[in-house]
Amino acid sequence: MQELRTSLVEALARATGLPAPQVDGMVGLPKNPAHGDLAFPCFALAKRDGKNPVELARALADDIALPDGFAAVEPTGPFLNFRFDRAAFITRTVQSVLEQGDRYGAGAPNDDVVVVDYSSPNIAKPFHIGHLRSTLIGWSLAKIFRFLGHPVVGINHLGDWGTQFGYVWVGCERWGRPADDDPDPILALVDRYVRATKLKEEDPSVEEAARDYFRRLEAGDADARAFWDYARTVSLDEFKAVYARLGVAFDHYTGEAFFNDKMDGVLADVEAAGVGEVSDGAWGVSLGDDLGFALLKKADGATLYLTRDLAAIDYRHRTFGFDRVLYVVGAPQSLHFKQLSALCEKLGKPYHDRIVHVPFGHVHGMSTRSGGAVPLVALLDEAHERALRALREEVTKRPEGLDEDAVAEQIGKSAIIFNDLSRGRIKDVHFDWDAALSFRGDTGPYLQYAHARINGIAARAEAELPDAVDGSRLPEDEAFQLAAQIGRFHDAVRKAAATYEPSAIAAYLLDLARQFSRANEVLRVKDAEAGIKEQRFALFVACRQTLANGLRLLGIEPIDRM
Ligand code: ARG
Repeated sequence: MQELRTSLVEALARATGLPAPQVDGMVGLPKNPAHGDLAFPCFALAKRDGKNPVELARALADDIALPDGFAAVEPTGPFLNFRFDRAAFITRTVQSVLEQGDRYGAGAPNDDVVVVDYSSPNIAKPFHIGHLRSTLIGWSLAKIFRFLGHPVVGINHLGDWGTQFGYVWVGCERWGRPADDDPDPILALVDRYVRATKLKEEDPSVEEAARDYFRRLEAGDADARAFWDYARTVSLDEFKAVYARLGVAFDHYTGEAFFNDKMDGVLADVEAAGVGEVSDGAWGVSLGDDLGFALLKKADGATLYLTRDLAAIDYRHRTFGFDRVLYVVGAPQSLHFKQLSALCEKLGKPYHDRIVHVPFGHVHGMSTRSGGAVPLVALLDEAHERALRALREEVTKRPEGLDEDAVAEQIGKSAIIFNDLSRGRIKDVHFDWDAALSFRGDTGPYLQYAHARINGIAARAEAELPDAVDGSRLPEDEAFQLAAQIGRFHDAVRKAAATYEPSAIAAYLLDLARQFSRANEVLRVKDAEAGIKEQRFALFVACRQTLANGLRLLGIEPIDRM
């Protein structure tokens, strides 16, 4: 589509002598779609030449050499209207989807390594909704960049280090560890943490004990380490269960603790650059008015989140030689990442301008029926249960022998994922169960339903793919509009990558599904005569393939039957 437009702009620029960017700004859709596919108004040209625009349009129609892919040009008053060679366009588009299959829309392999840091929850703390957003956005971006041919390294930068461990430890010392058969041990660890931090208000020795524990941990004390191991394993088991259920994966789980033995190197780097200074007994780098003082070592010698991020980026650079690192982390941490970039610049690191913070807004209203904070597993369970009900109520003609439970699990996840990824990242997301699960709204279930319906068409119509795709058998406007939307998939994927916005693909898929619905009303496959039937079917198969490719880039596995 874009190519057609570009070649028309070039042809018009040649014929008129106007600069191509100016022509590009003038070419648009005809007011009346029946007049053509693209229009060029002749007013500016007429003014330049002191001629009548209507006459000019007529003269230009005779002069211009129609570029490839166009079938006709017609003057209509002061406008020049162009028609695509729609049949050729449909043929080309459908053919390339059928040929390329799940690579349709993909990019050629290249060497620009993209590191994506996502999910990164904190040990011994619940996996909260912010981490769910990071997980979904990061996973989708990792898939998008991989699809575009980049080597991608997905990293879970676990928050498995820091003074908060001290409070969990104190709490467990006082009130015991969670029982071995505790169904939700993280919740029990959180309980110990909350109680210990509360106790600290009355009893100052709690804080001292917590700090002392963390000092021992940093120093490599075996007992301190054993407790850390235990808390980490318990938490990670639970996180991994959620990842497995969502189908999310990582190449590395290198959390903050992984960098503990690399702190001295970082601090030496800062020392060597001569930018470190002492402030209130603590040590760090002053970054100026906007970014303030970047604390790297506390008075008691403990290092910080920022120190570990400094070590982490250097390690990643040495290990993966990245082109950029995407940090998919909530907007409240924007100062942190600005400080990180500024620090790297001060240290003369070549990668200081390859740090990309991909921030996102809050999620409101996400709670389970029981209310309160949302353990992820409970959220997924509720999605499953509600999806099963929605499936039974809304999809009245379900295929025989359908594994409704398996389908409900897929629909529930699609609802949660799509609800999140369909909004611009930075906007706060409002979560509403009924809206997210509706089969008629702009939802994951709606897209899944469209996907399954296309498969159903094939089954009912007993159609087969034609030997050769022939767009001239698809003269209906709906067929062209559907093919045109299929042809825009490339642009949607590239836009999503350029803006780090999976929502560009989500919006694209909703348009695609709507075009499918329109086409499906007109282009019946089942009753069409032989010769046309296969062509219609091929168009729908191309649509299904594109829908599936797009859904997978969002981290949603398409459903074949429902
Ligand atoms: N664990 C952090 C948090 O929960 C997020 C870590 C993000 N990644 C990073 N490299 N800083 O807020």
